Amino acid sequence: MSRHILTAVAWPYASGPRHLGHVAGFGVPSDVFSRYQRLAGNKILMVSGTDEHGTPILVQADKEGVSPRELADRYNRVIAEDLHRLGLAYDLFTRTTTRNHYAVTQELFKRIYDNGYIAERPTLSAISPSTGRTLPDRYIEGTCPICGYDGARGDQCDNCGNQLDPDQLINPRSRINGEKPEFIETPHLFLDLPAFADALGSWLQSRTDWRPNVLKFSLNLVGDLKPRAISRDLDWGVPIPLPGWADRNDKKLYVWFDAVIGYLSASIEWARRTDDADAWRAWWTEPDAESYYFMGKDNVTFHSVIWPSILLGYNGEGNQGGTPGDFGRLALPTEVVSSEYLTMEGRKFSSSRQVVIHVRDFLERYSADSLRFYLSAAGPETSDTDFTWTEFVRRNNDELVAAWGNLVNRSLSFTAKNIGEIPPAGDLTDVDRALLTATEAAFAAVGNNLERSRMKAGLTEAMRAVTEANRYLSDQAPWKLREADPDRMRTILHVALQAVSDCNTMLSPFLPHSSQQVHELLGRGGVLAPSPSLVEVDDLDGGPSYPVLTGDYDVDATWARTAIEPGVAVSPPTPLFAKLDASVVDEELARMNDDN
Ligand code: MF3
Ligand code: ZN
Repeated sequence: MSRHILTAVAWPYASGPRHLGHVAGFGVPSDVFSRYQRLAGNKILMVSGTDEHGTPILVQADKEGVSPRELADRYNRVIAEDLHRLGLAYDLFTRTTTRNHYAVTQELFKRIYDNGYIAERPTLSAISPSTGRTLPDRYIEGTCPICGYDGARGDQCDNCGNQLDPDQLINPRSRINGEKPEFIETPHLFLDLPAFADALGSWLQSRTDWRPNVLKFSLNLVGDLKPRAISRDLDWGVPIPLPGWADRNDKKLYVWFDAVIGYLSASIEWARRTDDADAWRAWWTEPDAESYYFMGKDNVTFHSVIWPSILLGYNGEGNQGGTPGDFGRLALPTEVVSSEYLTMEGRKFSSSRQVVIHVRDFLERYSADSLRFYLSAAGPETSDTDFTWTEFVRRNNDELVAAWGNLVNRSLSFTAKNIGEIPPAGDLTDVDRALLTATEAAFAAVGNNLERSRMKAGLTEAMRAVTEANRYLSDQAPWKLREADPDRMRTILHVALQAVSDCNTMLSPFLPHSSQQVHELLGRGGVLAPSPSLVEVDDLDGGPSYPVLTGDYDVDATWARTAIEPGVAVSPPTPLFAKLDASVVDEELARMNDDN
């Protein structure tokens, strides 16, 4: 039976080009998962977009001397282009500044408010004494009250990772001009998280198959919930739809409140762009709908506590009840799939300190499939992991080129040269049957891992099948039988090409670009690994146009062996992957140091 599966991918801030650490956490894993699920016959809706509100955008806009809108426009485009180059097959990659997103966010806010889960409270807000302007949390710096680190910011301490309020900082100072902020009383809106503690607790208790670290962390959070401010003293954000607040230019919704709602608004936008504006409901309001949320670990709180609380509040499922709004009862996440951190040559990624490689620069020098392969094989799936150029070159050369590339290359070029088409199989020997059985069994082994978002283990299983096929080819040495036993030679090639075809299907979620090529080299028509398109669209409600990633991802293949057809012409392959020279390592390390 076909399942409806929402792949909800974390929304990158439109505050600059994204680096490898970002796409390692949310980008590649979510795409591998979705591509697998589509081949397995399930109905995927994969959505995301750029996250364009809040202080991260304001801080960078100030630095670049442009308005937040200009900054968001600039990086929305850059990021969409980069994700396109990586081949991430979003059904819709949009942005949070669309009118549709504003309307959906406000609908959720209003219902949660009417259900009684949002309350106004006085708070202390920092202002700059010299300008009278409010100082957003991130613009304030001081000593962390928890760990004593002196570079803590008003929203969190990067040293101990704790979330902070600016008035907790010891020795607070403005990051703009160093002056001591003044704290004044001003009202803010709070989401009543304690009202959801019971519901969150029983929901989390039922999530036994999550990655253990994510579940443990989330359960811990639920043990200690306080009301959380969902408004900010900013002029950039979604307006607060309440009398007395809506027209204020100094109070907007908190960026995380609107960003997570993006999953829903993007699903609705996607549906509105098809011929069935209600099509999104199959992923949100049907009882058997499933949803998998992909992100880096710094986002877990927002997806395992804040977002579920927003949904519970909308549904009227907190401790004071209520009724769902017009969208109906919305489903909580099936799983929050979080990665750990990727570091860069032993250091934390940092754009400001140049410990960084942007996706775009990377893809100018190396292929998207090499990067996807590396991140799937050696990414920070369940523990912090270091990216090194040495390891990148090694994996590319020894695994991608020498194992998979070589298998494709020698089986196809030998067939193309000596037969020109897929040969029929004669009588199969035990060795032939053993390879065919093992390769076919790999579909379940790889699939079961990808179903559970275990990309590393899935890739390992697929590469094991590649290794066995390589060994088979070397042992059977069809090239020695050209004269002596051409029938046997043809049978061996048939078996080997069937294994190549199987491995290619299994590798296609990881390597969409090259697997589509191999698919065609094998003389197959149709689509195995579809590509996303980057298109300019009109805002549905009269706002300015913008680029989106979208596509038709119906595939002509399934997650199972498809018998190769004797008689179909095979083309000699051009090299699929480039072998990298060992000097790449030194060049790249020198580039990092030069930039410093
Ligand atoms: N922009 C956030 C970050 O880069 C992620 C937002 S995920 C969302 O950390 F779903 F909330 F949008
Ligand atoms: Zn600290």
